[in-house]
Amino acid sequence: MQVIIADSAQEVARLGADQLSRLLRTTPEAVLGLATGNTPIALYEELIRRYRQGELSFARAQSFNLDEYVGLAPEHPQSYRYFMNRYLFSQIDIPLARTWVPDGMADPASAGEVYESLIEAAGGIDLQVLGIGRNGHIGFNEPSSSLGSRTRIKTLAPQTLADNSRFFAVDEFQPSLAITMGIGTILRSRKALLLATGDAKADAVHAMVEGPVTASCPASALQLHPCAVVIVDRAAGARLQHGEYYQRVRQQTDQLSSRD
Ligand code: F6R
Repeated sequence: MQVIIADSAQEVARLGADQLSRLLRTTPEAVLGLATGNTPIALYEELIRRYRQGELSFARAQSFNLDEYVGLAPEHPQSYRYFMNRYLFSQIDIPLARTWVPDGMADPASAGEVYESLIEAAGGIDLQVLGIGRNGHIGFNEPSSSLGSRTRIKTLAPQTLADNSRFFAVDEFQPSLAITMGIGTILRSRKALLLATGDAKADAVHAMVEGPVTASCPASALQLHPCAVVIVDRAAGARLQHGEYYQRVRQQTDQLSSRD
């Protein structure tokens, strides 16, 4: 795992965008794995800015989102498809037909397998963007999710339901099931990029990076990923024990890449 402690949430977004920019420059037809939630919004804003300035094009790329609520149609304002169209797809040049979000209205018995086949047919995911839940979830793989799991239906944990209830009106239906890429699906991406900001994530980030690999903290499975980059701001990285070491690795990595 490469751990980068950035000075601010804005720097997290910039460094995250650098990773995607580099990929899209070398591989314009890249397959991107994308996430929803608060954390990637700043990343998407930065990507949109770079696209508008002509620095970046998504015209030949395609994307697969991590997850979707079961029972919400794409046009539902709380659906993750709606979120992605609003915060990213409608503002860049990616062809909408090449953006995939799991279908929350599909037959739950086959939806996971169908999604896995689509990813496979695209040649697999080159770079998977991830956030992390306060309970250590990635995608909607809640604690106790099997580390080899593939796309399937999951029951949301009480903490996740509570954290996400802010997006739903008091009397509005809030789904308690989601379809999500599995941890095994995420581990098969060629690169994983996890972003975390704010002190509410400090415990989960510590458990993910410095704790044991355990289904109790699904994000800790990224320790097994051959190429995982974790970018956190100071608040989210506050409980990391080896901050100085991560800074030194970062400086040396920067020095090595500036020699290219
Ligand atoms: C979203 C997702 C979730 C979020 C996580 C953090 O597609 O898969 O795992 O990344 O719940 O959410 P925020 O960024 O809102 O704190």
